[in-house]
Amino acid sequence: MKIKIWNNQEPVRNSVRKSEVKNVKNIYPIQSNSRIFHTGDEMGLQKNAREIMSELDALVGLFSVKKLIEEIYAFVEIQKLRYKEKLATEPLVLHMIFKGNPGTGKTTVARILGKLFKEVGVLPKGHLIEVERADLVGEFIGHTAHKTREQVKKALGGILFIDEAYSLARGGEKDFGKEAIDALVKAMEDHRGNLILILAGYQDEMDWFIETNPGIRSRFPIHITFSDYRVDELLDIANLMLKQRQYVLSEEARNYLRFLIDKEQRRHEHSGNARLVRNLIERAMRRQAVRLVRQNHNLTRNELMMITGKDLESDF
Ligand SMILES: Nc1ncnc2c1ncn2[C@@H]1O[C@H](COP(=O)(O)OP(=O)(O)O)[C@@H](O)[C@H]1O
Ligand SMILES: [Mg+2]
Repeated sequence: MKIKIWNNQEPVRNSVRKSEVKNVKNIYPIQSNSRIFHTGDEMGLQKNAREIMSELDALVGLFSVKKLIEEIYAFVEIQKLRYKEKLATEPLVLHMIFKGNPGTGKTTVARILGKLFKEVGVLPKGHLIEVERADLVGEFIGHTAHKTREQVKKALGGILFIDEAYSLARGGEKDFGKEAIDALVKAMEDHRGNLILILAGYQDEMDWFIETNPGIRSRFPIHITFSDYRVDELLDIANLMLKQRQYVLSEEARNYLRFLIDKEQRRHEHSGNARLVRNLIERAMRRQAVRLVRQNHNLTRNELMMITGKDLESDF
């Protein structure tokens, strides 16, 4: 896993065009004497931040992701204390690249990060706006910049999460995707301290995207890789999802679910990961409901909770 936190090389400075420089403050990292945190009640904040960290902790697996987020959290907290003591602080460059297959937890983690960043005071709102190419790229000249700005506006104070971000660079120089990238880069400069961007997508595609867009590389210092889950992790995820929904698996259903997940993983390279599990469970819940309404007797609490092997079968 590649981890690089807080890019201190300030590459942003060199690539900003003179015409874009309206305010000198915009092109330099946040200075130690400027206000960097949107703080509220310190004690209350700390308690909430701990709760958010335990929400992260409750996710199955993701050990290196959790470790990196703990580092980021600790670093922000210490920068806050240093700032109070008038010690030099590092610029907080928190734009990120999330690499991984669908269903590996990227959106889930981004949403938790938004909440955390709000609680520690690096973002005023912390909400997540998730977009993809079609939300940013338009059909005629000027349309793209407008569409991108609209999404940026919605995300201000929080996180703009761009799924399959590499697709913005696919069409080459003439494609409007490039216009979206330029507009995003400009938004990052204009809304420093009020917007965090996360670019997400498949590992290989994102590596290619970063490689071919050095401007992007230098602005996104934090890279997080989301690995595929193992079968036992997917079963733990299934149990967590069932627990949250107050359902239980029968012994037979448990074995059958393991068999289904195992089969899917062998069949596809990208098996759908946790998303596959969620779909299997949600389908089983619907099948269970059909089975129960067809029964002609009063249903017990146990029956209402129990998913059987038959509920998990694909042909009904
Ligand atoms: N480690 C995990 N523990 C528990 N649930 C998870 C985990 N990873 C993903 N999920 C669940 O799986 C589903 C898909 O995850 P998501 O974050 O949308 O994946 P991605 O954005 O990588 O496609 C969501 O319902 C999410 O809550
Ligand atoms: Mg996602």
